[in-house]
Amino acid sequence: MKSSAIAPANIAFIKYWGRKDHKIFLPLSTTNSMNLSNCLAHTTFEFDENIKTDSIIIIDSNKVEKEIKKESGGKNTMLFRTLDRIRDQSGTRLKARVVSELTFPLGAGIASSAAGMAAFVASGFMAAGMEEKVNDIPELSREIRLSGSASAARSAADGFTELLYGESHEQSFVRMIAPPDHWDIIDLVAVVDSQEKSVTSSEGHEVAETSPFFNARVEYLKEKPDQARKAILDKDFATLAELSEVDSINMHAIMMTSTPPAFYFAPGSIVLIHKIRQMRADGVAVFFTFDAGANAHIICTKEHLSHVKREIEALQQVKFVIENSPCVGVRIVDKHLF
Ligand code: PMV
Repeated sequence: MKSSAIAPANIAFIKYWGRKDHKIFLPLSTTNSMNLSNCLAHTTFEFDENIKTDSIIIIDSNKVEKEIKKESGGKNTMLFRTLDRIRDQSGTRLKARVVSELTFPLGAGIASSAAGMAAFVASGFMAAGMEEKVNDIPELSREIRLSGSASAARSAADGFTELLYGESHEQSFVRMIAPPDHWDIIDLVAVVDSQEKSVTSSEGHEVAETSPFFNARVEYLKEKPDQARKAILDKDFATLAELSEVDSINMHAIMMTSTPPAFYFAPGSIVLIHKIRQMRADGVAVFFTFDAGANAHIICTKEHLSHVKREIEALQQVKFVIENSPCVGVRIVDKHLF
């Protein structure tokens, strides 16, 4: 059977770094985000008796094609484990062919895994005939989380979403905070460095607890997801700006003080931090947030978009900008890639 899905990447306001449980990828606190309309993965998944070996291919917006190898480790290996899990749950023994097309460049330091994982899991379970699981958003998000990325699970629901902290697999699932049209804020991804990150997020989650500041972060996170949730519901830009910038820097402090440490910022990241703080001091509704990478996510209101975009694109460190609105989560689609 053949099935296709489209899923967005997302940008977290209150992030997760470090896990409660590494085997089932439980985040150590509730984490929330917004789906990104122009950072999408479109995946076609087929189980067929004529397919002799499993194959997974990713094609990016520059038409660069990459065959994923089972033994390459990290999230690549997790895709093959997920494929085995889909087979186990559905009872099929057929081999699979998977092709995934991204709307953004691969290896440009843009978190592609959330979009890719979410589309992989949804199209995979659908192709294996498990439609009920795919239509049950909390359950789908648990499966996406189990595939190795709690951040990807946030892409299961629409618009502004949160993945709940939980002590067990059952308790940690996604729910929508607000639909995409609730608030027309924009995320400009400013690419300053296109290198693959040297420390993967999985490696980072595993050593986060070695930071002397880790317990302080866990304590601080107790109230932040609720505050960010309220700021989103109230469309309170100033509060969300304050919470997100502090959270992003707080997370990077953990990264830089873990053993071994991880430094994700590039010179251009620091230039952007200063630029955005200055713009906000001048009255522009804008803030920054960074994931495990050098590229800034610059959030602004629609009203200030053209000004912010012009200022950002004028910086020599910025190679290109991807503009995103809030969008729906993972969807099954009729259009197949093969
Ligand atoms: O879900 P993972 O393992 O790719 O980790 C994501 C980590 C961050 O992007 C840095 C934070 C987040 O919550 O998105």
